[in-house]
Order: sequence, then structure tokens, then C-alpha cells
Amino acid sequence: MSLLIINIKQLVQVRETNVTVVKGSDMKTLPILENAYLLIDHDTIVEFGTMEDYVDIDADEVIDATGKIVMPAWCDSHTHIVYAGDRTLEFVDRINGLTYAEIANRGGGILNSAKMLQDTSEDKLYAQASKRLKEVIAMGTGAIEIKSGYGLTVEAELKMLRVIKRLKKEFPVLVKATLLAAHALPEAYKNNKTGFVDLIIEDLIPKVSTQNLAEYIDVFCEKGYFDLEDTNRILEAAKAYRLTPKIHVNQFNAFGGVALAVEHKALSVDHLEELNDQDISALKDSDTMPVALPSCSFFLSIPYTPVRRLMDAGLPVALATDYNPGSTPSGNMNFVVSTACIKMNMTPEEAINAATINGAYAMGISNQYGSICRGKKANLVITKAIPNYQHIPYAFGNNHIDTVIINGLIFENEDTLKKNRALI
Ligand code: NIG
Ligand code: FE
Repeated sequence: MSLLIINIKQLVQVRETNVTVVKGSDMKTLPILENAYLLIDHDTIVEFGTMEDYVDIDADEVIDATGKIVMPAWCDSHTHIVYAGDRTLEFVDRINGLTYAEIANRGGGILNSAKMLQDTSEDKLYAQASKRLKEVIAMGTGAIEIKSGYGLTVEAELKMLRVIKRLKKEFPVLVKATLLAAHALPEAYKNNKTGFVDLIIEDLIPKVSTQNLAEYIDVFCEKGYFDLEDTNRILEAAKAYRLTPKIHVNQFNAFGGVALAVEHKALSVDHLEELNDQDISALKDSDTMPVALPSCSFFLSIPYTPVRRLMDAGLPVALATDYNPGSTPSGNMNFVVSTACIKMNMTPEEAINAATINGAYAMGISNQYGSICRGKKANLVITKAIPNYQHIPYAFGNNHIDTVIINGLIFENEDTLKKNRALI
């Protein structure tokens, strides 16, 4: 099965060599080919070039992309899309003056989501999560990390992770699972944080490992949630089970979590709305990817991650959605890229690098995903006819995605099926 795309207005993030991360000032460079073609064989990109150099290729299917942009599908390295119900009413409470912390302190927030999740059957949870996953794929996401963390009991955490495993099996996109063991302190352990951390270490982590339910370990390292000592204990225990850290850190306060994560060789440190000089020096000379989540800052009206400081220090940056019911009820990577440009002053080139190749790095998959390179997976988006790739962040809030290709196949959702039926 081969698929040929011709007359591509701009082929974006196209690389001759398999670059796996882009750092600092290199993020300003986004290689493109104007007026190009691309050939896919089964699930792999095998050839590309300009239309001037094109000589007839025999392919099973041909797409004419006149006026359109082709680029790698988004790599969303931080989501919590498995959750039950939603928290619309808390959103209204915040508009009426309550803060995120105040809502959490009166039993709302993560505890509210945990209660709903515990009361929802595994099948219903899967149905809700798969609907969200379909929606984000239609918006151009081709690889995604999904966290647990709304269970807050061993059984409910395992249930969440089994749902993630089922999504992984049922959907063509690449799914990475993270055990977000310490997300909030459950009611039953209100006065016994050590007991909850013990439960995670002695019971939850071993079970997750035996059942092969996660590759990564996360902790919400934050004042009022889990401190440096808790985080250190959990990461230390996870090491024995080869769970690599990807940590929620510096969302509201900077108190050394970044350095601790780097010490534990974290693959990524995520949020970083607060950032100090020590955090930046800890990240230098490390392999840890800083991940910014601008739609979370947008939704909560909190500071945006100072990505310019990171890039000026020669560091890479990745962008992700943080799709979750409390702080970011949106999984739209196009909006993330727009917000990064509009609110964090990233150039479109920096933002697209951050949302593709560096996002792939933050999931440990950038040797196969995140750029257009011979031999890499054919996970691509074809936009509608637009003037140039800069138009994607510029015309924010509009849907520019026309077709999503995952593993070399056109992803059929309800809309594309309808469109295809209309053609028959
Ligand atoms: O990444 N900060 C911790 N976890 C989520 C929000 C959780 C929630 O409010 O449900 C986040 O923003
Ligand atoms: Fe998060």
C-alpha cells in the first residue's frame, strides 16, 4: 500500500537527517520544501522532494495537495484525557471569584474528578476517553501521552491505566502511558500523607509494573500537594521498576523540583509557569525536556512559561496541551501553537518545532515521530488551502486541518466518513 501526495504548497519540518531534538537558537529554524511531493509506503515516509525533481511515481493512492501545507502530526506529550464527567460548574465558580486553590481546598478540583471516576465503570470511562481521543486526532494529533491520576485508590488507578491500554490497542495513534501516582491527597489519607506515599510505593507501583501498564511516572510536585521529599521517595522507588520520570513541577511555586527531577534523569519537566535561575542551571547539561502548557495558563489566567529564557539559555522547549477537566479542558494542539506565539512570543518556527519534534522527544519517540524524514513514521497532517504555515498560529481558533494521516492511512472520523460517502 503506497500513498503519494503531490503539489504540496509547503512541506514543513522536513529533515534530511534524523534530528531527534532541537535546542535554543536552532528552534528558530524550521526546514521547509516549497512545491513538494511526498511518498509513503505502508506506514513509513520513503521519499520526498520538489515537484521540479518529481518523476512519475506509481502509487496506490494519490492526493493532490495544491495550495495546502503538509507537516508532521502534532506530538502531544502531556494529557489527562481519561477522566469522568467534567468540571464545568467549577469553571463558573472561578468566574465568580474563587481561585483554583480555593476550589480544591473545599473538596473540588482533583478530588471531585476522582470521585466521579471511581463511580464510573471502566467501559463508560473508555467511551468518554475514546471520544476525546477521536476529537484530538481529527485536530491533528498523531502521538499522545496520557496520565492516570484521577483514581486516587489503587483499584481506580489501575482502572484508568487499563483504559489507556485499551485506547493504545484500539487507536492507530501512538499512546504512551504515565502513572501519575501522586496527584492529590485522597480524603481517606487527609492526615496521613506518608501513608499514601507508602501505598504508592509498596502497592501501586509494583502492580502497575507487573501488569505492564505504564512506562513513565509522574508526581504533582507542588505546595499543598507533594513536596520534594515525597517526590524523591516516589521517583527513587519507581527507578527499580524502570519507570522514567515526567514531572508536574513549578506550576504555582518554584522550590527545587526541577533540580530534583533532573537528578532523577527525568525525560521531561512540565508546566514551569514559575521558573528561577537555579531551575535553568539545573536543566543545562541535562537531557530533560522543559514542557510548556500555554492553554493551561490561558484557562487558569496564570503566568505563561518564560520559554524565551529557556531558549536563550540554549535549552529546548516542547509544547503540549495538558488536556484535563480542571485546568485545560481542551486538547487542541493548534490552539496551543497559536497561544505560544501570541502569548509567549514564540515564532511560528519555534512553536512548530516545540509541538512536533520536541514533543516527540518528551515522549521518548523522536527517533520515529515528529519530523518528515525518510524512514520515519508517516504521521502527517494536510491542511486546508492556506497561504503559508505561519497562518496556522495566526488565524487562531480556526480549524485548518483537512486530512490526518496516521501510520500511512487516512484517519477516518465521522466527518471524513461523511465526506467520503458524499463523493460516492
Ligand atoms: O496539569 N496540576 C496538576 N494536574 C493538572 C490539573 C488537574 C485538575 O485540576 O484536574 C494539570 O494542570
Ligand atoms: Fe497536567
